[in-house]
Amino acid sequence: MSDTVLPTPLLEVLPNTFLKCEFLHPGRSHKARVARALIEDAERRGKVTRGGGTALIERTGGNLGIGLALEARIRGLELVLVTDPGYSRIKKEIAGRLGAKVVDRGVSHPDCADNEAAVQAILASAPSRFHYLNQFGNPANPAAHEQGTGAELLAQLIGRGHGRDTRVTLVSGLGTGATARGVSSALGQWFREVAVVGVEPPGCDLRAGRYGDHGLQGFAVGQPAPFFPVAELAAVVPVTDGEVAAAGTRLFAEHRVFVGPSSCANVAAVLKWPPASARDVVVSFLYDRGEDYE
Ligand SMILES: Cc1ncc(COP(=O)(O)O)c(C=O)c1O
Repeated sequence: MSDTVLPTPLLEVLPNTFLKCEFLHPGRSHKARVARALIEDAERRGKVTRGGGTALIERTGGNLGIGLALEARIRGLELVLVTDPGYSRIKKEIAGRLGAKVVDRGVSHPDCADNEAAVQAILASAPSRFHYLNQFGNPANPAAHEQGTGAELLAQLIGRGHGRDTRVTLVSGLGTGATARGVSSALGQWFREVAVVGVEPPGCDLRAGRYGDHGLQGFAVGQPAPFFPVAELAAVVPVTDGEVAAAGTRLFAEHRVFVGPSSCANVAAVLKWPPASARDVVVSFLYDRGEDYE
């Protein structure tokens, strides 16, 4: 097992309702795929080399932070993560233990939206010292999900006998929107009908651009998802804290799978959005591990 990313299995929670088990990557989440892609992109473009004096910088203290810390450690690269108290303390600690320099700005919602400005200030103060990976703007992010998560899922669904006329609905929350974008693009290369249904955290109104302070870390992060405009969503499914907790409890009871809050929210949404007919398949994601949250 020398890779940070592995092919991940599908869990069939209900008939024709699948959850892609992204929490099983050695890099601990779906962002392991993105971390590898962002750093490979930086290396390909000659932005960083081992011992070259340029550090990687990114605004995250969550799953991407862990994935980047692992990749940077393997490659002997320096990594700075700009983060805030909204991210799990455990994840920040894991990234730090792996060797990342974790800079917690100490400001909570809504001021953490300024993490981008904080990164820009660091870049402006020492332009040649850092390479900004920029998950919110880097096309390598959705590409990682198109070529990785999405291509794998496509093969898994075809392998289960689903022909081109199967109607696929992806139920997905949106952070950067890269998972929804990349996976729907890959599936759209084969299936004739692919729809994305958004998962809406408590206190948010995705269509009105309102992002409240909620507990689903990684979803609705205070700005529109750059890679998946809400106008492209076929529908939005709001989930309550109670539904999210109940979905997590049920998933563990029935499948012994312990995942994080945004993954439980996907499960809650899937339970409210079952396949409409024998021609329909519903797919969602289990992004990360429950034990990585306090
Ligand atoms: C726990 C968790 N859930 C969901 C997401 C959303 O993924 P994406 O950014 O691809 O929309 C993220 C991304 O940061 C995440 O860390």
